[in-house]
Amino acid sequence: MSVEEVYEVIRKHTEFYKNSLPLIASENITSKFVRNCYISDLGHRYAEGKIGERFYEGCSFVDEIELMAVNLMKELVKAPHVNVQPISGVVANMAGFFALTNPGDKIFALSIPSGGHISHEKYSAAGLRGLQVLHYPFDAEIMNIDVDETKKLAEKEKPKLFVLGGSLFLFPHPVKEISEIAAEINAKVMYDGSHVLGLIAGGEFQNPMEEGADVLTASTHKTFFGPQRAIIACREELADRVDKAVFPGVVSNHHLNTLAGLVIAAMEFKEFGRDYAEQTVKNAKRLAEELAEEGLKVLGEDLGFTESHQVAVDVRKQGGGAKVAKKLEKANIILNKNLLPWDSIKDTENPSGIRIGVQEVTRLGMKESEMDVIAKLIADVILDRRSVDKVRKDVISLKKEFSKVKYTFEEHEAYEFLRI
Ligand SMILES: Cc1ncc(COP(=O)(O)O)c(C=O)c1O
Repeated sequence: MSVEEVYEVIRKHTEFYKNSLPLIASENITSKFVRNCYISDLGHRYAEGKIGERFYEGCSFVDEIELMAVNLMKELVKAPHVNVQPISGVVANMAGFFALTNPGDKIFALSIPSGGHISHEKYSAAGLRGLQVLHYPFDAEIMNIDVDETKKLAEKEKPKLFVLGGSLFLFPHPVKEISEIAAEINAKVMYDGSHVLGLIAGGEFQNPMEEGADVLTASTHKTFFGPQRAIIACREELADRVDKAVFPGVVSNHHLNTLAGLVIAAMEFKEFGRDYAEQTVKNAKRLAEELAEEGLKVLGEDLGFTESHQVAVDVRKQGGGAKVAKKLEKANIILNKNLLPWDSIKDTENPSGIRIGVQEVTRLGMKESEMDVIAKLIADVILDRRSVDKVRKDVISLKKEFSKVKYTFEEHEAYEFLRI
């Protein structure tokens, strides 16, 4: 196998994305300014420890970068303390569990079908910490936590931690109400804002720190269009516990090249984040409305379908999420099958729904009128109105008009395989 052969696979992947509609709710595209950082020498170095107190020499410029990242992220999420070292959202959650709980403690989290992430579960980070996970009572009508039932259950079970936020996340969570319940039983609140960080930073979603959460964890590459890594933010009095949970708790190398990329993405957010986040939510709402108009069963109808970047569609009538997502992929429409609140975890292979995220197409400059087109293309495939081949052709021509990264300092080609 040659280097060129590997590059050829990457080239094909890039070409495929160039010709596709990327609608996976947990992804985004970075600008070339962010990507330039990835290939810098920073990607060869270590900087264990805190800014100015490293375990290795040679870190003075890394200190400068990390300080920029900390200050920018503090400003964007309005938190008194931010640690930017977690290398992914799961790692940030592990740090949160380390900082806020002891093995054997009970925690409340959303079940996966109700929107919880696997890392909140016994099979993953929460289980590794030895936590007992209890699920919030969930109201599928409003796609949200049932606060009254949660209060009753919390008085009985006395959890040490309430995890909010999740992966299927249409509407803001009751952070204020849950924080009040937590305060009564001396528990803490950790908000996993991985999906919505870009909307929080852009001022288009609830700010969990302002509403009463103790800790905010978040990936920086979903609605926040930065590199694949994460942050953990907290109240000042928890700073020491959180920092120790990150290092030496769950991180050694913290991937300094993508840390520099995070600085650039945060700068882009300061300048363009408001417009991008506003358009993202507008696009999600419009796509949901149009899909409903086309005859699909979109969740959250009574509440305007969504207040985030996501749209959830119940496709049981059309054969279930697995079949539908695969068929859409053949038309170059990339999204994922998704469990919905009434599903059992055993339905993971063929859940009731699909989940759609509009953040990446928004970053490419799409607006409401393109959402109308996308809704039709999706419905054409799901409802067997037109052949997959015909829809794919339309997807490719739509995508040709939206091939540039926007909301950055200088528009440029989005899908390019850059070589040094
Ligand atoms: C709510 C939530 N938390 C954490 C994660 C994990 O993030 P990462 O992939 O950065 O580890 C995800 C991933 O999709 C998520 O949806």
